[in-house]
Amino acid sequence: MFQKVRTRIALLSLALVLIIYTISSFAIYTIVRQVVLRQIDARLHGLARAVVEQYDETGNIAATGAFLPHGTYLFLATDGAFILRAPSNLESALWSIANHAPIGTHYVDLKTSTSHYRVFYILQGRQGHPNNILMIAADDHSEVSVLRRLKTVIFFVGIAGMALSTLAGFYLAQRVLRPIRSAWQRQLEFVADASHELRTPLAVIQSNLDIAMGHTDESVIDNLEWLNNAHSETRRLSKLVQDLLTLARSDSEKVPLQLTVLSLAEMVERVQDLYGGIVEMAGIELEIQISPEAESLQIRGDADRLQQLLLILLDNARKFTPSGGRITVRLSKLRSTALLQVADTGRGIAAEDLPRVFDRFFTADLSRTRDDEDIGGTGLGLSIAEWIVEKHRGKITMSSPGLGQGATVSVELPTI
Ligand SMILES: Nc1ncnc2c1ncn2[C@@H]1O[C@H](COP(=O)(O)OP(=O)(O)OP(=O)(O)O)[C@@H](O)[C@H]1O
Ligand SMILES: [Mg+2]
Repeated sequence: MFQKVRTRIALLSLALVLIIYTISSFAIYTIVRQVVLRQIDARLHGLARAVVEQYDETGNIAATGAFLPHGTYLFLATDGAFILRAPSNLESALWSIANHAPIGTHYVDLKTSTSHYRVFYILQGRQGHPNNILMIAADDHSEVSVLRRLKTVIFFVGIAGMALSTLAGFYLAQRVLRPIRSAWQRQLEFVADASHELRTPLAVIQSNLDIAMGHTDESVIDNLEWLNNAHSETRRLSKLVQDLLTLARSDSEKVPLQLTVLSLAEMVERVQDLYGGIVEMAGIELEIQISPEAESLQIRGDADRLQQLLLILLDNARKFTPSGGRITVRLSKLRSTALLQVADTGRGIAAEDLPRVFDRFFTADLSRTRDDEDIGGTGLGLSIAEWIVEKHRGKITMSSPGLGQGATVSVELPTI
């Protein structure tokens, strides 16, 4: 598909260049030609006037036009006498004009077997039998050959330009399409992963309900295990669908933030009330540390989204920290930003997995997480966290000294 689009863009740009080049070179050639011809015509006209003045003064037709410069020729006929000073092949061409051209004053181009001329003539009398003839011919083959050379240059420059612009078109189309292609690839992967993730809970729900429905003679209590399994999978499914929806909307930039001025310290303090109980039940200690200068930190942000961010980070810290561990939520000031950190003493992350934790559907060590029902996640939490932070023009990073040594997520948000 992208190959076709690339070819189409390249051909379109080529067509555009071709049209612009043809129009502009045609215009340039026409203007140059007109300027050159006008100069020759003005010179011929001046010479014709000088010839007429000389003849009027002297009345001697034989001596008229001796002053004409090299490369200009004269045919003057009046009162039955004439003078024709020109090479023989031009002579016959001038006679032909005199006998066939319309009466009046004109400029014409004349091509003989050996050269090219521009001719100015005045014919008076009857068409085909003029009684007064004045013709000045100038050899303009050098000007004509310059014009011909200009035409050749325009043609070959055009060919080279077309070849270059085709190559440039392909190259530029490829560059323009590269980010689109990778975004498209990511979307395909996202859809494939999402479908895969949706299939698992659906299959679990279906098989558990199949079992329960097969036990027609048993009560609901007897089938509680299967129903419970199906129920907890529906919860997982509903969270997954919610997360997918958030990310799909974030991709299409359809989620506007409800920005208000917020105190981060207040938000962090509320974490204790919201999350303290859950963490305690898991046998983990939750500690909140707010540095004195961070107490008054204010940011412009979306309260619900930032709350969601904190919950994603705390949920991970809890999931990946065994009982007896500790989670520390720290808030401090870092130049013009607020630094929010969620650190745990849990299983940590291997160095090779660190760059991938924000990737959609990434979960380290799948075999272990999938078996443990509580840990089993879909790998979308940190992608959503990253999107929320980026929407707030902040930065999020994950660090861990290694497996078994805990992990720390740091979020920097611009303050006001
Ligand atoms: N605090 C942490 N300690 C150790 N590993 C972590 C921590 N936070 C994230 N990870 C690793 O990063 C992966 C991605 O985290 P993320 O929150 O995106 O997905 P999840 O928690 O697996 O699933 P979800 O959040 O969608 O339910 C996790 O599966 C885990 O391997
Ligand atoms: Mg998570």
